[in-house]
Amino acid sequence: MTTACRICEAPIEPFMSFGPMPVANGFLGADQFADEYFFELAPAFCGGCGMLQLVEQPDARRMFHGSYPFYASLSRHMSAHFEGVAGEIREICGGADDPFVVEIGSNDGVMLRHLAAAGIRHLGIEPSENVAAVAREAGVETVSEFFDEDFAARVADEHGPATVISAANVMCHIPDLNSVAAGIRRLLAPDGVLRFEDPYLGAMIAKTSYDQIYDEHVFIFSATSVASAFARHGLELIDLTPLATHGGSMRYTLAHAGRAQPSAAVARVLEEESRAGLGRAATYDSFRAACEASRDGLRSLLEELRGAGRRVVGYGATSKSTTVANYCGLSPDLVEFIADTTPDKQGKFSPGAHIPVRPHADFAADHPDFALLFAWNHEAEIREKETDFAGRWIRYVPRVEVVA
Ligand code: TYD
Repeated sequence: MTTACRICEAPIEPFMSFGPMPVANGFLGADQFADEYFFELAPAFCGGCGMLQLVEQPDARRMFHGSYPFYASLSRHMSAHFEGVAGEIREICGGADDPFVVEIGSNDGVMLRHLAAAGIRHLGIEPSENVAAVAREAGVETVSEFFDEDFAARVADEHGPATVISAANVMCHIPDLNSVAAGIRRLLAPDGVLRFEDPYLGAMIAKTSYDQIYDEHVFIFSATSVASAFARHGLELIDLTPLATHGGSMRYTLAHAGRAQPSAAVARVLEEESRAGLGRAATYDSFRAACEASRDGLRSLLEELRGAGRRVVGYGATSKSTTVANYCGLSPDLVEFIADTTPDKQGKFSPGAHIPVRPHADFAADHPDFALLFAWNHEAEIREKETDFAGRWIRYVPRVEVVA
């Protein structure tokens, strides 16, 4: 299936398919099984601009809506991370007269609430009404809209130019990145900075963390692809910060072209990406083979455990787990239930695989023999809490293994 690159319109073709896939956060009731929506989850690499992308993505309204079940504040480590981000943004704002901070995809206000408390003029843009309502309650100015060029122009007219535009785990969700970048160019003050962070392609390839590929992640960025995509709109990559969040992310800092000297990190990471072969089609063929080996390894481990009568429970009904459960053909006879702290997910079933999602208390009350770590990006936080768990953990990133 040949399609056009979402950024540069060069012809692209998927290098693999994860098969028919439901909406990753589409937790559902048994009465909804018959109408469940599926699409072909197939990533492609563009040789023209280096962008890794999905060839098909469900309509945004299927993914981000009034009952989007993701609240960024629920993880203690992530809350601390965003408090740190807010501190950095305050420093950047320090030199500006009446600074104005815009966050694209501000979720429940996990970051902006710190700027609101400090009296900094801000605007959160969050299309999912339920999480936006939580942000407003926390004193964060929030509008429920999708950010694009037209909307950016309206914000610029109403509020003036932005000193900082920030986004976390959002930019890679937006299929019309060209419209977003054009909007940012319009809204960003002449000396303003755009900072965004997303799961990093280099980490995904190095760890075979194929579960970063799901409907919301229409792009998996690299420094190479970000530099190229934003240069088309007069924005220049001026700094890069590797982050441990979401299993390996990158923060990209951009400014209007020619306004700031790029840091040494930019040249260094671009060079590392070239050495790692992120621009070569062969790299994605090897990635596909590594995904298949991971899938086969996880399935045979779970089948062996079932054969031996052992109980396996999933830990964390992550979006990522939807790709794993569906690609690996997991079902409730292999994974009894998934324990998760998010009230909106509890009592429902996982998308596609229909594994029941239950409160953490059910895990704690009757520990299984094995916990399958679907929330592997939170392993440190989870291990700190689960010191009572005497069973063993199953990891599949960076390889399938059982650990004490
Ligand atoms: P998240 O890290 O956002 O991953 P994704 O982007 O793939 O959805 O999701 C973490 C999920 O794990 C979320 O549903 C909450 C759950 N969770 C727990 O149940 N217990 C925990 O201790 C942590 C940290 C997360």
